Amino acid sequence: MAADPIRTRALFRVFAGSREPLPWAKLGEFPTPVTPFPGGGGIPENLGFVKRDDLSSPVYGGNKVRTLEALFGAALARESRTIIATGAYGSNHAVATALHAPRVGLSARALLFPQPVSWAALENLRVTLALSDAVQALPHWSCLPFSMWHHARRRDLGGVTLMPPGGACPRGALGYVSAAFELAEQIEAGVLPAPARIVIGIGSTCTTAGLLVGLELAKQLGLGFRATEPALVAVRVTPWPVTSRWRILRLAERTARLLAAWAQDPALAVSAGQLGERLELDAGYLGRGYGRVTETGRAAMRRWTEAGLPQLDTTYSAKSAAAFLARCERAEGPTLFWSTKSSAPLPGVSAAQLSQAPRRALRWIVEAERNLPRELPAGYERLEP
Ligand SMILES: Cc1ncc(COP(=O)(O)O)c(C=O)c1O
Repeated sequence: MAADPIRTRALFRVFAGSREPLPWAKLGEFPTPVTPFPGGGGIPENLGFVKRDDLSSPVYGGNKVRTLEALFGAALARESRTIIATGAYGSNHAVATALHAPRVGLSARALLFPQPVSWAALENLRVTLALSDAVQALPHWSCLPFSMWHHARRRDLGGVTLMPPGGACPRGALGYVSAAFELAEQIEAGVLPAPARIVIGIGSTCTTAGLLVGLELAKQLGLGFRATEPALVAVRVTPWPVTSRWRILRLAERTARLLAAWAQDPALAVSAGQLGERLELDAGYLGRGYGRVTETGRAAMRRWTEAGLPQLDTTYSAKSAAAFLARCERAEGPTLFWSTKSSAPLPGVSAAQLSQAPRRALRWIVEAERNLPRELPAGYERLEP
């Protein structure tokens, strides 16, 4: 694999003078394009834009590719052989890890806990189970801290890097610092006008925290956002306290400090107070909780299909898209939707490929198949015929 992320990632263009390059693994294809969102149905022309991180990799795209580039790079630099993802059964972070880790010579594992059933979660779980080297299916999310503690001490895995859910740590957030710089470069190049606001789904806080830092530093460096400073509208898909303002800003502040230490420039260590000024949290689209389908989300999915854009998922992108559409209708200046769910087709998984999977996960799959009979596509191989 071509490994020249230094020239192809906006972070390294902006800080070209920094002494030591940060370890980075090249997984995705950047910059991702920006497409206009078509007007009509209450939405004015030329006000909506979509940042297509769904296209970040043909292997598996979405927002987690940027996060994993930084985290895999760090894992390889410390000579880990195993990388462990953590999260809910349908985690995009876990499926992205299963698909991308072998490309850079890492063995992928996952520690997963149950969530409400949906087609997107079912599809992801099957691929994660089939392609990871091992998956532990936990009975409940509260078991995760102990399982992580245990895996961090395992000597038999040849050096382990454990990622928190969503990769939400300062290293992981650097991927979206770079993404904000990438957007700033696209604004400079006239690809889109500087948006008045950016709308994105927030789950583990990693993506939002990185964007907050990147947007603030881009402004300070005079890149892209000279006249307008975009608000960052983070649409909750995971409830408080996981997505509390305090947690987001603390991660953002730690990310800024990491960057300042690396670039040897204390001025980059922006404070949580400064970073919080542009953050707007929107809890109006979460519905009954994480992974629960909402009617406004379903309506956004239909609107997306009419617009010829790739299908949204009910857990994350449909909820944030509903918030985006509502803001476009208010016509308060250019609004950018950050498209975070991969649009790359997932590989098909046969029942035989799941024969070694943990029984708890298999029971969840059977229950999901019973609950979603109309959503299972042609060619889907059920566990229980
Ligand atoms: C498709 C999608 N959108 C948005 C998010 C939210 O990103 P974060 O967890 O970094 O807050 C996730 C998280 O996994 C995701 O998978």
